[in-house]
Amino acid sequence: MKRRIQLEEVKVKLTAMLGIEFPIIQAPMAGVTTPEFVAASAEAGILGSIGAGYLSVEDTRTFIRKVMVLTERPFAVNLFVPEQVEVNQKALRRAYEALQPIGREIGIPFWNAPLSEPDFDGQVRLLIEEGVKVCSFTFGLPDELTIRTLKENGLFLIGTATTVEEAVLAEKAGMDAVVAQGSEAGGHRGSFSGDLTFIPLNELLSEVVPSVEIPVIAAGGIANKEMKEQARSAGAQAVQIGTALLATDESGAHSLYKRAVLEAGEGCTVLTRAFSGKTARGICNRFIKEMKDAEIAPYPYQNDLTKEIRKEAAKRGKSEFMSLWAGEKVSMSTDGKLKEVIGRFI
Ligand SMILES: Cc1cc2nc3c(=O)[nH]c(=O)nc-3n(C[C@H](O)[C@H](O)[C@H](O)COP(=O)(O)O)c2cc1C
Repeated sequence: MKRRIQLEEVKVKLTAMLGIEFPIIQAPMAGVTTPEFVAASAEAGILGSIGAGYLSVEDTRTFIRKVMVLTERPFAVNLFVPEQVEVNQKALRRAYEALQPIGREIGIPFWNAPLSEPDFDGQVRLLIEEGVKVCSFTFGLPDELTIRTLKENGLFLIGTATTVEEAVLAEKAGMDAVVAQGSEAGGHRGSFSGDLTFIPLNELLSEVVPSVEIPVIAAGGIANKEMKEQARSAGAQAVQIGTALLATDESGAHSLYKRAVLEAGEGCTVLTRAFSGKTARGICNRFIKEMKDAEIAPYPYQNDLTKEIRKEAAKRGKSEFMSLWAGEKVSMSTDGKLKEVIGRFI
């Protein structure tokens, strides 16, 4: 009973700390979130999140300013923590060659694959300049100085964990809350420490909640109010939902992607490294099947190699070669106004 009362108090604090009405976070979804989508989430009383992982500093600034024009409510910006990756030129060449049959089929037998140059430090400085209140991270934790600087400037920091060890590391590093990302989740795994493991949300919550003091946010396969309540009774103080919002009017997902989400049946998602070099969950399609045994470059190189293919596939209306990130409960996703879809969780 005492623990329940404590959790209730923490929950009140988390929504109050974030300045939101309901304990729900619109998942940051790089490539899918638009200013309208983030602002509509904020206006619906939940925390909107800009998926800024692939954006340049200037594009991040423009995005933030557009959201600020559309809403006065708080929102988060989500960043990808950069990793040091060794790359072997020969392996990179083989990974490029493995993609060529697909390139040829969509009319680009050869293409340039310039390496992306993310500017994480520049994005961090920008968040402070623009007065952003909440910042979430995936793929790791920033260094001590970055965390201290962000906190001194009043930002609320949210880490992502896929294991209890990562949640403890997030707390130790100074995160104010942590997302527990279950194996059901759509998109990339936020894993950054130890072997890649795939722990279902319920199991993960039962390990993470008693192991950290900071509020835990449940993510992965939460598709309706009952699932949200279930996560809350397992000790999560809020939930983060992504796939359920993919096909909404305000989502920036390509129309073919939305259609694939709406037509998806049960059990149609798989984990793959084929698009980006990092394990992610999406709707299974020809690209994933044909690349199953192919050489794949490590993230972010594979992501850079496949970028042109994905762009061309979208332009030519070939969803079989697009990345269709979605969680295990994608068959429960619906279309409509974002506010109405969120209303069903409340
Ligand atoms: C299309 C898509 C893109 C995503 N991009 C990001 C991202 O940029 N940053 C991040 O922290 N999580 C990202 N995620 C993961 C979500 O934060 C969250 O863990 C997931 O959506 C929860 O599972 P659900 O999709 O079943 O609701 C993405 C998920 C999807 C479906």
